[in-house]
Amino acid sequence: MTSTRHFALIPAAGVGARMGADCPKQYLPLAGKLMMMHVLDTFASSPLIEHTFVVVSAEDGYIRDALASAGHLEKRVSVLFNGGETRHQSVLNGLKAVREQVADDDWILVHDAARPGLTVELLERLVSALREDAVGGLLALPVVDTLKRSDGFGRVAQTVAREALWAAQTPQMFRYALLRHALEQAAAVTDEASAVEALGLRPRLVEGSPRNFKVTLPHDVSLAELHLKGNS
Ligand code: CTP
Ligand code: MG
Repeated sequence: MTSTRHFALIPAAGVGARMGADCPKQYLPLAGKLMMMHVLDTFASSPLIEHTFVVVSAEDGYIRDALASAGHLEKRVSVLFNGGETRHQSVLNGLKAVREQVADDDWILVHDAARPGLTVELLERLVSALREDAVGGLLALPVVDTLKRSDGFGRVAQTVAREALWAAQTPQMFRYALLRHALEQAAAVTDEASAVEALGLRPRLVEGSPRNFKVTLPHDVSLAELHLKGNS
């Protein structure tokens, strides 16, 4: 049976150490609403998404208030308070918690709470590209800069051919059972695709957008606001 249901899983249990703000970065205000709410609103406004699950830490003191002031999301979003020590663990904990609500063949779109620039168009591009795919895949961007590998002492050891290199983004979309199996088998991974690759499979690369970058450092905030206000 080919399932057509798509669920979003948003790991949001990080502390934002590199951002160094007073709160985890996903709760910073950006262009009129919290970073997290941009992400939840995008998934909630796509009819292709059945439901969205957000994984936060057990101690999260922000998500309840954030959702209470967004009544339109009440039926579209559920919160799981079982985030882990790493993003990998948070995603796996989320997958385990939704087991009863999701079939093995359902698609799971894992998306960082720290990528508020995702648009409905981008997420639907991913879904359409993978509709018939046996493996799944991810949004990613072809690398445009010339790449240098450092010698570890501040000098160039080598120029790395950028042809065929892509920078991974999210969402990363795989069927529930495959994704769970991959993450359970994998050693520490920083994205879902690498866990799936470790099984010998080849996730499909679907072109993303620069606006879907991950907000990581303080200077990223103004760039994210430019994209969100400018609708570029
Ligand atoms: N994340 C998570 N659980 C963790 C760590 C990260 O769910 N234990 C989530 C973050 O909340 C974020 C996404 O994974 O939405 C990408 O992680 P990253 O950008 O590294 O966020 P932080 O870990 O919060 O930031 P930093 O690494 O600077 O502390
Ligand atoms: Mg991190």
